[in-house]
Amino acid sequence: ASVRSVPAEVPGPNRIQDRTAPAAPAPTDGFENTPDTDPSLAANRAWGDAIRARMAGSTLGDDTVAANTLSTPEQVDAAIAAAVSAGEAWRALGAEGRAAILHKAGDVLEARRAELLEVMGSEAGKVIEQGDPEVSEAIDFAHYYAESAKKLAHVDGAEMHAVGLTVVTPPWNFPVAIPAGSTLSALATGSPVIIKPARQARRSGAVMVEALWEAGVPREVLQYVQFDGPARSDLGAKLVSDPAVGRVILTGGYETAELFRGFRQDLPLLAETSGKNAIIVTPSADLDLAAKDVAYAAFGHAGQKCSAASLVVLVGSAATSERFRRQLVDAVRAYDVGSPVDGSNRIGPLIGPAEGKLLGALTTLHAGESWLLQPEKLDDAGQLWRPGIRDGVRRGSEFHRVEYFGPVLGIMTADSLAEAIDIVNDIDYGLTSGLHSLDEDEIQQWLASIQAGNVYVNRGTTGAIVQRQPFGGWKKAAVGAGSKAGGPNYLVGLSEWTDAPVTT
Ligand code: SER
Repeated sequence: ASVRSVPAEVPGPNRIQDRTAPAAPAPTDGFENTPDTDPSLAANRAWGDAIRARMAGSTLGDDTVAANTLSTPEQVDAAIAAAVSAGEAWRALGAEGRAAILHKAGDVLEARRAELLEVMGSEAGKVIEQGDPEVSEAIDFAHYYAESAKKLAHVDGAEMHAVGLTVVTPPWNFPVAIPAGSTLSALATGSPVIIKPARQARRSGAVMVEALWEAGVPREVLQYVQFDGPARSDLGAKLVSDPAVGRVILTGGYETAELFRGFRQDLPLLAETSGKNAIIVTPSADLDLAAKDVAYAAFGHAGQKCSAASLVVLVGSAATSERFRRQLVDAVRAYDVGSPVDGSNRIGPLIGPAEGKLLGALTTLHAGESWLLQPEKLDDAGQLWRPGIRDGVRRGSEFHRVEYFGPVLGIMTADSLAEAIDIVNDIDYGLTSGLHSLDEDEIQQWLASIQAGNVYVNRGTTGAIVQRQPFGGWKKAAVGAGSKAGGPNYLVGLSEWTDAPVTT
């Protein structure tokens, strides 16, 4: 059965906050989502301008990386040995002791929000609009996993055990929230961590790690390594497959997960992998809202999200709707593309020049397709693209099935909702999925049969919020997973369980 995203009790919507005022104290009576920055306040716009002014020449994170780069096999061995022995004392702190440090980590991340936005912008091309909720998510993970571990320490009749050394290999697209979430979850359960941030976002990962050290996580318990090559290089293979490693948390491509599994037969791998996500729009939908949500889900961070919408499937009369297409094109045209240093840009550069299958998707149409909006390359390097929309994508075609991870969306059509669901379920991955409909029967029909880890009704497919929308995939979108990040079962899946000893 599918695991749904929305827990029974959902807290209210994110609050907004003036970033120039003192931060509100963290709640003492349980978990609350951290507010994003409200750009409608003039004070926050000035705060954002100051961050952008620093982005261009930013060297944040350089010191940390230089001081901790482990490039030799001997250094990797030493890091493993040190982490394993430091793990004893970390475990002995107990869930309460670790939670106190994790809550502090959330506070430090909040205090360093501007720095994190600066380094994400300068290094990974993230505009503040995209980076700000990501920092909130990282902070949420700290407070949420701290509380979650405390609860699990008191489960009747069972005892939770740390799995021991956890290797975290996060991606570059969420260079703060994903490394933070993976690291904090393992730390909460009592496991020491070695993190190897993505090369393209190593400084963002370093500032995040530094914040956790500042909060009191010992450096031996949380170690930062960096290789010349990717996590799947020789050194990566060495680190990941060391018998001392109790868990590997990977967020990355499906092929990387397969490679990791090849390193060691019994590799305890938890992997969040690829996505090819669709939003279905039925004739009952609010088409204006649907167009706006599709545009943002498809092109936020230039489409470089595993959760991004890559397809929209229009049903029945929505399939021929001029209005929807016009609204979609208008919404997408309104996104200025360029450097995150310029506050008017809502889409930044790609992490590298578009190449391979992405370049193909931005330049070459397949049978039956036409450009509703033709992508436009804005720089010589091929990193800045105005987004493109392909109309007439055919079932079974390459665009129907392949993940591109960039600023290109395909439109498909279906005669009925059942057919649209079939088209979406025909895709190998099942990460996120969306439905725009104002018809309760349609919503129930879709919920009962759509194959995706995260399902969203009348909302885009990106930006899952901790506790409210625990995040995790289905089918080829998840390997060795089973519980969702930012949800009540995530730490359960990260730990080993035994019956509690009988006490007399
Ligand atoms: N959690 C992110 C999102 O929901 C993806 O990693 O967009």
